[in-house]
Amino acid sequence: MDYKKSDLAINGGPKAKTTPNIPMFPGGLEIGEEEKREVMEVLDAKWLFRYYGPKEFPSKVKKLEEAYAEYLGVKHCLAVNSCTSALITGLNAVGIEPGDEVIVSSYTFFASVASVVAAKAVPVIAEVDKSLTMDIEDVEKKITSRTKVILPVHMRGMPVRMDKIMELAKNHDLKVVEDVAQSNGGSYRGKKLGSFGDVGCFSLQFHKVVTSGEGGIISTDNDLLYTRAQAYHDVAACWRKDRFAPPEFEGEIFFGVNFRMSELCGAVALAQFGKLDNIVKAMQRNKRLIKEKIKGIRGLDFREVTDEEGDVAVCLIMYLPESAIVEGFTKALNAEGVEAGGIYNKGVPDWHIYAHWKMLMEKLMPSKRGCPFNCPLSPNGSEIQYTEDMCPNTLDWLERSVHIDIPPQMTENECEQIATAIEKVSGVLL
Ligand SMILES: Cc1ncc(COP(=O)(O)O)c(C=O)c1O
Repeated sequence: MDYKKSDLAINGGPKAKTTPNIPMFPGGLEIGEEEKREVMEVLDAKWLFRYYGPKEFPSKVKKLEEAYAEYLGVKHCLAVNSCTSALITGLNAVGIEPGDEVIVSSYTFFASVASVVAAKAVPVIAEVDKSLTMDIEDVEKKITSRTKVILPVHMRGMPVRMDKIMELAKNHDLKVVEDVAQSNGGSYRGKKLGSFGDVGCFSLQFHKVVTSGEGGIISTDNDLLYTRAQAYHDVAACWRKDRFAPPEFEGEIFFGVNFRMSELCGAVALAQFGKLDNIVKAMQRNKRLIKEKIKGIRGLDFREVTDEEGDVAVCLIMYLPESAIVEGFTKALNAEGVEAGGIYNKGVPDWHIYAHWKMLMEKLMPSKRGCPFNCPLSPNGSEIQYTEDMCPNTLDWLERSVHIDIPPQMTENECEQIATAIEKVSGVLL
């Protein structure tokens, strides 16, 4: 259909989308009777701590761990209080040392990088490609004799090409810690995300696919890594039932922290877990409906999908030919009633883009000295320099991006309205 300037809502034409926008809390908006029932069971039993209470009660956290392990097809899951905790625990479980280098994605929430620093390792930032996940060639270029871990991030629902990452890791004898915070329920070539690497780390924070407000999960197939993660997340496995048993593995007992999940979170997470697949299916259906209607629009390109079936489909990302038109394009979409936004704008801070990570650029630590940036044990930490232009391809993709959330609660009709808005605005502005 041909559109004229005057058809656009921004110029006084009729709006393409007339229903209110649904906020992006995919699991959060589904909280209902199931969550209430699980939480009430915990409260009625006065069993708020997984390891003890007034009388025996089956731990919700343990149930959650077992359900997740079965779902992912891995031997072990361990619930923690956030994905940041999961990443720090995972890095410690694989035996990260001060000065070891961890290759992280340039487009991720800052927590992925903060976890590396918290584990006293040196982050090395790799470019993303058109899929906005790790650029495998750039990762390979950044491997040095100090590299210990690759930390791929399945960003905004999109699976990283895990076959390539695992091959690289094998060839260079590296560990892999997957960040699945934003892509719970996704898969790559039929295998669940979080089941490829040595360790997988999930988030249950409120904005995520399913949620318990805060929370995280660690997955692993490896008995030793699981035992080490147990020890780290629970001050040397302090409360575990067999905590005084002789160690089964060398290197299983050491100082740890308290990253345990509470039974209240476990109860909510367990109910939400039961809804995960349907939430993902709804987002995938919605994204398919929109994309089907707007394919072939001249001048409009899309984020590359690495795996159509495995994409969690939390958002639609379109690339415009030039960054200069992003603002006008998103404003026109907003006027049509669609909540769209650009991703990278130099003047607008966003902690998902490496160029805005001031703490990394300036190596800002809570104390002036200390690993990894100013520490005799990690001389590479003081040598490495981070600059705003160190990943130019990432910035090029992101500054030409237009982003639209895909809530699972949207109806078919609302998806069609979004597609019509994109058609209208592209027809006039591209
Ligand atoms: C990619 C990514 N990694 C890690 C995290 C940290 O998760 P949490 O808030 O559960 O610590 C987030 C949270 O937004 C994230 O988006």
